[in-house]
Amino acid sequence: MTDQPIHIKKIGVLTSGGDAPGMNAAIRAVVRAGFYYKLEVYGIYRGYEGMINNDIRKLENKSIAHVLERGGTFLKSARSEEFKTIEGRQKAYDNLKSHGIDALVVIGGDGSLTGAHLFYKEFGIPAVGLPGTIDNDLFGTDLTIGFDTACNTAIEAIDKIRDTATSHDRLFFVEVMGRDAGFIAINAGIGSAAAAILIPEKKFPVEKLIDRLKFREKAKKESNVVIVAEGGKSGGAQEISEKVKKILPTYDIKVTILGHLQRGGAPSSFDRILASKLGVSAVEGLLHGKYDVMVGIINNKIVFTPIKRAIVDDKQVDDEDLRIAGILST
Ligand code: F6P
Repeated sequence: MTDQPIHIKKIGVLTSGGDAPGMNAAIRAVVRAGFYYKLEVYGIYRGYEGMINNDIRKLENKSIAHVLERGGTFLKSARSEEFKTIEGRQKAYDNLKSHGIDALVVIGGDGSLTGAHLFYKEFGIPAVGLPGTIDNDLFGTDLTIGFDTACNTAIEAIDKIRDTATSHDRLFFVEVMGRDAGFIAINAGIGSAAAAILIPEKKFPVEKLIDRLKFREKAKKESNVVIVAEGGKSGGAQEISEKVKKILPTYDIKVTILGHLQRGGAPSSFDRILASKLGVSAVEGLLHGKYDVMVGIINNKIVFTPIKRAIVDDKQVDDEDLRIAGILST
């Protein structure tokens, strides 16, 4: 994990994959730390696409003014198909070399980190990854940049849905993002008093959901909001609501898909601070010869994990969280 440090003078920073609130704070921290250690820092625009198209510009102090508090990523982001080809990566390497860039900080989810890992193996460009995704699905960090904000956004939206659900005695199915991971659903569900939380990692048969709803009816609960994580094998909120409607035809059922609003908005204080700590640590890691690693936070300590493990090893949902959610929803 720690290689013989090369003398790094110029680093490139990019954001790739789905944007996440706090990415700007992470870029800012990388640039600030770079300047502190007398490095030149280059912004690579639109992720690996920009590396291939030579959309690479030197960043100055003014480039990062007032970005800490903004959602999205001012470097923009993309999912690059061309970078998946060796020809694409060769072009990207040639462009980096034309700017004299010696090392990279890659901010993104597992696809983005996979790119950094491949690039290091093939071309020897040292890279440190920062976990930037609302999904929180990366091994090697308790939390990813953007997850906290996305959960706050989801909970705020569900609170509003709750008001109308209560006014009309309705059952709502709310679908949240997470690709194939249930972390947002679990937190949003606990934080919004959900009647049930359905996630891809655990089976939750429709019969069990029906029992739960009937039990809550007897207990005279005024409203029911069921959180469904996208990516589940039994379908999304729409499909599950249709199955329930067949069994409980008298229920007034509505579906809301929260979608990309979970990716936007100003980052929470937690995400700003996490991104800032990880950004500085990424630069310091590079200077100490920590290559091909992801920097994360575990038990409130900065930890470097080989990228290969971060992308291959499974991050499990916490059974204890599910047990607590179960107690709270009955
Ligand atoms: O990985 C972040 C994420 O928002 C997932 O939760 C979601 O499944 C996916 O990206 C959506 O991707 P896109 O923005 O390309 O539709």
